Amino acid sequence: MIFVTSNQHKYNEISSIMQTGGFRVQWRKMKYQEIQADTTEEISLDSAKKLAPLLGEEFFLEDTGLYIAALNGFPGPYSSYVQDTIGNPGILRLMDSSSRSAFFLTVITFYDGTEFHQFSGRLDGSIALEIAGKGGFGYDPIFIPEGESQTLGQLPESAKNSISHRRRAVTSFMEFLKESGHFDSISD
Ligand code: IMP
Repeated sequence: MIFVTSNQHKYNEISSIMQTGGFRVQWRKMKYQEIQADTTEEISLDSAKKLAPLLGEEFFLEDTGLYIAALNGFPGPYSSYVQDTIGNPGILRLMDSSSRSAFFLTVITFYDGTEFHQFSGRLDGSIALEIAGKGGFGYDPIFIPEGESQTLGQLPESAKNSISHRRRAVTSFMEFLKESGHFDSISD
Protein backbone atom coordinates (compact mmCIF):
# COMPACT_ATOMS: atom_id res chain seq x y z
CA MET A 1 0.00 0.00 0.00
CA ILE A 2 1.56 3.30 -1.12
CA PHE A 3 1.57 6.12 1.44
CA VAL A 4 2.33 9.57 0.05
CA THR A 5 3.96 11.99 2.47
CA SER A 6 7.11 14.04 2.80
CA ASN A 7 6.93 13.68 6.58
CA GLN A 8 9.26 11.03 8.03
CA HIS A 9 7.40 11.01 11.38
CA LYS A 10 4.06 10.31 9.73
CA TYR A 11 5.63 7.52 7.68
CA ASN A 12 7.27 5.96 10.78
CA GLU A 13 4.03 6.07 12.77
CA ILE A 14 1.79 4.76 10.01
CA SER A 15 4.12 2.01 8.83
CA SER A 16 4.60 0.78 12.38
CA ILE A 17 0.83 0.73 13.06
CA MET A 18 0.02 -0.92 9.72
CA GLN A 19 2.80 -3.46 10.07
CA THR A 20 1.29 -4.58 13.38
CA GLY A 21 -2.02 -4.95 11.52
CA GLY A 22 -0.34 -7.11 8.88
CA PHE A 23 0.01 -4.53 6.08
CA ARG A 24 3.12 -3.46 4.26
CA VAL A 25 3.49 0.28 3.60
CA GLN A 26 5.58 1.68 0.75
CA TRP A 27 6.76 5.23 1.34
CA ARG A 28 6.28 7.53 -1.67
CA LYS A 29 8.23 10.52 -0.40
CA MET A 30 6.61 13.44 -2.17
CA LYS A 31 5.76 17.01 -1.31
CA TYR A 32 2.43 18.21 -2.66
CA GLN A 33 0.55 21.48 -2.53
CA GLU A 34 -2.31 21.62 0.00
CA ILE A 35 -5.31 23.89 -0.53
CA GLN A 36 -6.44 26.17 2.26
CA ALA A 37 -9.95 24.96 3.09
CA ASP A 38 -12.41 24.96 5.99
CA THR A 39 -11.94 21.34 7.03
CA THR A 40 -9.22 18.71 7.33
CA GLU A 41 -11.49 16.37 5.28
CA GLU A 42 -11.55 18.79 2.32
CA ILE A 43 -7.78 19.31 2.37
CA SER A 44 -7.12 15.57 2.48
CA LEU A 45 -9.59 14.84 -0.36
CA ASP A 46 -8.37 17.67 -2.56
CA SER A 47 -4.75 16.52 -2.24
CA ALA A 48 -5.68 12.93 -3.15
CA LYS A 49 -7.73 14.08 -6.16
CA LYS A 50 -4.78 16.09 -7.47
CA LEU A 51 -2.32 13.23 -6.98
CA ALA A 52 -4.52 10.42 -8.40
CA PRO A 53 -3.89 11.20 -12.10
CA LEU A 54 -0.16 11.66 -11.44
CA LEU A 55 0.26 8.36 -9.59
CA GLY A 56 -2.31 6.34 -11.55
CA GLU A 57 -2.48 3.58 -8.92
CA GLU A 58 -3.78 2.89 -5.43
CA PHE A 59 -2.38 5.09 -2.70
CA PHE A 60 -3.36 6.91 0.46
CA LEU A 61 -2.37 10.13 2.20
CA GLU A 62 -3.48 11.89 5.33
CA ASP A 63 -4.03 15.36 6.66
CA THR A 64 -4.01 16.22 10.36
CA GLY A 65 -5.20 19.25 12.31
CA LEU A 66 -5.13 20.42 15.91
CA TYR A 67 -8.47 21.91 17.01
CA ILE A 68 -8.42 24.07 20.17
CA ALA A 69 -11.86 24.63 21.75
CA ALA A 70 -11.11 28.00 23.38
CA LEU A 71 -9.85 29.30 20.01
CA ASN A 72 -13.03 28.13 18.22
CA GLY A 73 -11.19 25.24 16.60
CA PHE A 74 -8.11 27.23 15.48
CA PRO A 75 -5.62 26.28 14.06
CA GLY A 76 -7.62 23.28 12.65
CA PRO A 77 -7.20 23.31 8.86
CA TYR A 78 -4.47 25.95 9.22
CA SER A 79 -2.33 23.75 11.50
CA SER A 80 0.55 23.44 9.09
CA TYR A 81 0.81 27.19 8.42
CA VAL A 82 0.44 28.04 12.11
CA GLN A 83 3.11 25.51 13.16
CA ASP A 84 5.48 27.01 10.56
CA THR A 85 4.78 30.60 11.59
CA ILE A 86 4.04 31.07 15.32
CA GLY A 87 4.80 27.45 16.32
CA ASN A 88 4.19 25.94 19.77
CA PRO A 89 5.33 29.04 21.71
CA GLY A 90 2.86 31.12 19.69
CA ILE A 91 -0.02 28.75 20.48
CA LEU A 92 0.80 28.87 24.20
CA ARG A 93 0.77 32.68 24.07
CA LEU A 94 -2.74 32.64 22.56
CA MET A 95 -4.16 30.53 25.42
CA ASP A 96 -5.36 31.67 28.81
CA SER A 97 -4.94 29.30 31.73
CA SER A 98 -8.54 28.08 32.03
CA SER A 99 -10.16 26.23 29.13
CA ARG A 100 -7.43 24.25 27.38
CA SER A 101 -9.26 21.36 25.76
CA ALA A 102 -8.28 20.39 22.24
CA PHE A 103 -8.26 17.47 19.85
CA PHE A 104 -6.23 16.14 16.97
CA LEU A 105 -8.05 14.98 13.86
CA THR A 106 -6.44 12.83 11.17
CA VAL A 107 -8.25 12.21 7.90
CA ILE A 108 -6.87 9.52 5.60
CA THR A 109 -7.96 9.56 1.96
CA PHE A 110 -7.50 6.29 0.08
CA TYR A 111 -7.67 6.17 -3.72
CA ASP A 112 -8.56 2.66 -4.85
CA GLY A 113 -7.83 3.34 -8.53
CA THR A 114 -11.41 4.52 -9.14
CA GLU A 115 -12.91 6.02 -6.02
CA PHE A 116 -11.85 7.96 -2.94
CA HIS A 117 -12.57 6.72 0.60
CA GLN A 118 -12.01 8.66 3.82
CA PHE A 119 -11.25 7.46 7.34
CA SER A 120 -10.87 9.70 10.35
CA GLY A 121 -9.47 9.42 13.85
CA ARG A 122 -9.68 11.84 16.74
CA LEU A 123 -7.67 12.14 19.95
CA ASP A 124 -9.06 14.35 22.72
CA GLY A 125 -6.85 16.05 25.26
CA SER A 126 -5.63 19.43 26.42
CA ILE A 127 -2.97 22.04 25.67
CA ALA A 128 -0.12 21.88 28.21
CA LEU A 129 0.94 24.97 30.16
CA GLU A 130 4.44 24.68 28.74
CA ILE A 131 6.37 22.88 26.03
CA ALA A 132 7.52 19.46 27.28
CA GLY A 133 9.31 16.53 25.67
CA LYS A 134 11.48 16.04 22.63
CA GLY A 135 9.66 13.06 21.11
CA GLY A 136 7.18 13.06 18.26
CA PHE A 137 6.82 16.15 16.08
CA GLY A 138 4.74 19.26 15.44
CA TYR A 139 2.31 19.95 18.27
CA ASP A 140 3.20 16.80 20.26
CA PRO A 141 5.20 18.71 22.95
CA ILE A 142 2.16 20.85 23.86
CA PHE A 143 -0.61 18.21 23.71
CA ILE A 144 -1.59 16.07 26.71
CA PRO A 145 -3.93 13.20 25.73
CA GLU A 146 -6.98 12.59 27.91
CA GLY A 147 -6.11 10.23 30.76
CA GLU A 148 -2.37 11.02 30.59
CA SER A 149 -0.27 13.45 32.62
CA GLN A 150 2.47 13.90 30.02
CA THR A 151 2.54 15.41 26.53
CA LEU A 152 2.78 13.28 23.40
CA GLY A 153 6.31 14.62 23.15
CA GLN A 154 7.18 12.98 26.48
CA LEU A 155 5.45 9.66 25.86
CA PRO A 156 7.33 6.89 24.02
CA GLU A 157 6.43 6.52 20.34
CA SER A 158 4.77 3.16 21.06
CA ALA A 159 2.43 4.84 23.58
CA LYS A 160 1.50 7.57 21.09
CA ASN A 161 0.92 4.94 18.42
CA SER A 162 -1.45 2.96 20.62
CA ILE A 163 -3.83 5.87 21.30
CA SER A 164 -3.29 8.50 18.63
CA HIS A 165 -5.66 10.13 16.15
CA ARG A 166 -3.49 8.56 13.44
CA ARG A 167 -3.83 5.09 14.99
CA ARG A 168 -7.63 5.48 15.09
CA ALA A 169 -7.85 6.60 11.46
CA VAL A 170 -5.50 3.80 10.37
CA THR A 171 -7.51 1.20 12.31
CA SER A 172 -10.72 2.06 10.36
CA PHE A 173 -8.70 2.12 7.14
CA MET A 174 -7.25 -1.34 7.79
CA GLU A 175 -10.73 -2.72 8.63
CA PHE A 176 -11.96 -1.35 5.28
CA LEU A 177 -8.99 -2.87 3.44
CA LYS A 178 -9.62 -6.28 4.99
CA GLU A 179 -13.38 -6.17 4.34
CA SER A 180 -12.95 -5.03 0.76
CA GLY A 181 -10.30 -7.63 0.00
CA HIS A 182 -7.34 -5.30 -0.52
CA PHE A 183 -4.59 -7.57 0.66
CA ASP A 184 -1.23 -5.92 0.45
CA SER A 185 -0.43 -7.75 3.61
CA ILE A 186 2.97 -8.92 4.81
CA SER A 187 1.95 -12.56 4.42
CA ASP A 188 1.21 -12.15 0.63
P1 IMP B 1 -0.22 18.17 7.98
O1 IMP B 1 -1.15 17.02 8.12
O2 IMP B 1 1.12 17.69 7.50
O3 IMP B 1 -0.79 19.30 7.15
O4 IMP B 1 0.05 18.69 9.44
C1 IMP B 1 -0.45 19.90 9.95
C2 IMP B 1 0.43 20.33 11.09
O5 IMP B 1 0.13 19.54 12.22
C3 IMP B 1 1.93 20.21 10.83
O6 IMP B 1 2.56 21.34 11.34
C4 IMP B 1 2.34 18.97 11.59
O7 IMP B 1 3.63 19.10 12.12
C5 IMP B 1 1.30 18.91 12.70
N1 IMP B 1 0.98 17.52 13.02
C6 IMP B 1 0.49 16.59 12.17
N2 IMP B 1 0.34 15.42 12.82
C7 IMP B 1 0.73 15.63 14.09
C8 IMP B 1 0.85 14.79 15.23
O8 IMP B 1 0.57 13.58 15.21
N3 IMP B 1 1.31 15.36 16.34
C9 IMP B 1 1.64 16.69 16.42
N4 IMP B 1 1.58 17.51 15.38
C10 IMP B 1 1.13 16.97 14.22
